[in-house]
Amino acid sequence: MYLINKITNENMKIEISNYILRELPEWFGIEKSIVEYVENLKDKDFYAVFDNKLPLGFICIKYNNPYTAEIYVMGILKNHHRKGIGKKLIQKCEEELKCCTIKYLMVKTLGESHPDENYKKTRQFYSKAGFYPLEEIKEIWGKENPCLIMVKNI
Ligand SMILES: CC(C)(COP(=O)(O)OP(=O)(O)OC[C@H]1O[C@@H](n2cnc3c(N)ncnc32)[C@H](O)[C@@H]1OP(=O)(O)O)[C@@H](O)C(=O)NCCC(=O)NCCS
Repeated sequence: MYLINKITNENMKIEISNYILRELPEWFGIEKSIVEYVENLKDKDFYAVFDNKLPLGFICIKYNNPYTAEIYVMGILKNHHRKGIGKKLIQKCEEELKCCTIKYLMVKTLGESHPDENYKKTRQFYSKAGFYPLEEIKEIWGKENPCLIMVKNI
C-alpha cells in the first residue's frame, strides 16, 4: 500500500528529489538541470510517495499566479512505472489545489516534434491524466528541446 505525504522539510525534499531524478537518466540526463531542479524546488509544494518508508516518486508544484499552478517536476522510479502512482500523485495535488482559487494545472514537457521515445510516454501519461496540449514553444528551452505546454482544467 503506497502512502503519499506532503513534505515540508527542505532537506527531505532535496534528498528525495536528488535520489529519484538521478535514477531517471533517460529523462533527466543533464547534471546542470538536476542541480537546478533540486535547488529550485526547496520552496515549492512537494509530495512524495512511499512504500514502507522508501521513496518511490515525487511531484513538485509551483504557483504561477492565483489561478494557475504548474507541475514543476515529477518522477517515479522506473521499476514502479505503470502502477498508477503518477496518477495518484496528480490526484493528490488536484485535491489540494481545488481548495484555493487555482483553476488550471499546467506542465512543460518535451514536445512531439522531438523524436525522444521516453518523453512520448510522458506525454501519453499527461494526456491520460486529462492534460491538453496548448502550444509547443522553441524559445523556452531552445530549438533543440521544443517545449510543449499542456494544461488541465481543475
Ligand atoms: C511520467 C510518469 C510520472 C508516469 O507515472 P506512472 O506512475 O508510471 O504512471 P501511471 O501508472 O499513473 O499511468 C497512468 C496512465 O497514464 C498512461 N501511461 C503512463 N505511462 C505510460 C507509458 N509508458 N506509455 C503509454 N501510456 C502511459 C496510461 O494510460 C496509464 O494507465 P494504464 O497503465 O492503466 O494504461 C513516470 O513514468 C515517470 O516518472 N517518467 C519519467 C520522468 C518523467 O517523465 N517526468 C515528467 C517530466 S515532465
